[in-house]
Amino acid sequence: MSSETSAKPLSSSRAKSLNGICRVPGDKSISHRALMLGGLASGETKISGLLEGEDVINTLKTMQAVGALAHKDGDDWIMSGTGNGLLLAPDGAFEFGNSGTGCRLCMGLFGAYDFPTTYKGDASLSSRPMSRVLNPLREMGVQVLAEEEGGRLPITLQGPWQTAPIDYVVLVPSAQVKAAILFAGLNTPGVTKVVEPHLTRDHTEKMLKGFGAELEVTTAANGERRISVEGQGKLVGQDVTVPADPSSAAFPMVAALIVEGSEITLPDVMLNEARVGLITTLMEMGGDIEITNKRNSGGEEIGDLVVKSSELKGITVPAERAASMIDEYPVLAVAASFAKGETNMIGLHELRVKESDRLAAVARGLEMNGVPCEEGDDWLKVQGRPDGKGLGNISNNASVATHLDHRIAMSFLVMGMASEKPVIVDDGSIMETSFPGFVNLMNGLGGSIG
Ligand code: S3P
Repeated sequence: MSSETSAKPLSSSRAKSLNGICRVPGDKSISHRALMLGGLASGETKISGLLEGEDVINTLKTMQAVGALAHKDGDDWIMSGTGNGLLLAPDGAFEFGNSGTGCRLCMGLFGAYDFPTTYKGDASLSSRPMSRVLNPLREMGVQVLAEEEGGRLPITLQGPWQTAPIDYVVLVPSAQVKAAILFAGLNTPGVTKVVEPHLTRDHTEKMLKGFGAELEVTTAANGERRISVEGQGKLVGQDVTVPADPSSAAFPMVAALIVEGSEITLPDVMLNEARVGLITTLMEMGGDIEITNKRNSGGEEIGDLVVKSSELKGITVPAERAASMIDEYPVLAVAASFAKGETNMIGLHELRVKESDRLAAVARGLEMNGVPCEEGDDWLKVQGRPDGKGLGNISNNASVATHLDHRIAMSFLVMGMASEKPVIVDDGSIMETSFPGFVNLMNGLGGSIG
């Protein structure tokens, strides 16, 4: 696991141009959920295009520890599930490494079982708040037998003989919390309801329906969504095709926009409306991004993105858009560093509790590489430098602190591709959690990372 291997500093230098076609790895959110539901549902689930990053492999091992069988058939993963309600007690603690999604969703999935489960993670995950999941689980009757101060890992849960359904309003905009409650509802008699004031990524709802759960979603005129799931129903194995991850496509996309003379194609990128905030924003900034060949694949809209280098201009990104691009602000800040004028990003409070305090990590990295920026409680202002002159940092060999955060590492390596001087990050190994092969893919397009 990255936290246990030694740090691997990487440097990224100005690229001449980026050209080519490259498919980024499978979507992380869908990959986790496919393994969880495939491991739970009766019968066989075939998963094509699974992201084989460390985060997802930890979820795979976890599902095997509770009774799911898994093997590879060519490029596909075949899961044989236990059947809903029939997961087995594991022998030891689960290790989730860096993954908030793996850990929080599994707390919901296993918390409603009448056996103890223990959740562990790396230094980054162990510093992240888990009360947002523990609180609704407690309301369902789950006991928290052990936790570190402030609801931190390691945590041990013990479900009661039978959990009680709840009707819960999720006040933090979090798809992970929503999913954890719905997953706990799967092994709970009656109907478990979740209300979210605004749409967050809805892969859980779509996939639960696909696996045969009795699930209903209603959306009010003000955007409030009510999701109900009937517990103890039958789930049946499915074929799942994992589309390319828009959160990973974000890196070559921004790189192509800011490196002169570039044109790249990113095929099969998922275009779920709760995930496309960055594409919308970059287009508003003047980014030349064409979406071609739009089609449906396994219940999600996908398309190919053709991205050409562009003269970007600073804008204000509306706070309401934050949920649809929450993982993309670090790389947006990099795009903003090469835009004309100022870019304002607001409504960013959730960035404080990601794999790192992303708002602070981005601001420190920008400052270190010569980008004027201002950081507030939940906002960031970036002043761009379109030609990249004076950006980057080699004179004192200082490296950007990535704080075990894959997206901080990748964002700053993208920055180096258009900066006057190289950009160095203190650890590239953490990128294995979500984007194995990142360096080769970017170098294959014309990057110079090493
Ligand atoms: C995810 C939800 C988001 C996102 C994370 C993946 C998911 O987290 O940042 O990378 O798959 O549900 P939050 O639910 O904390 O916003």
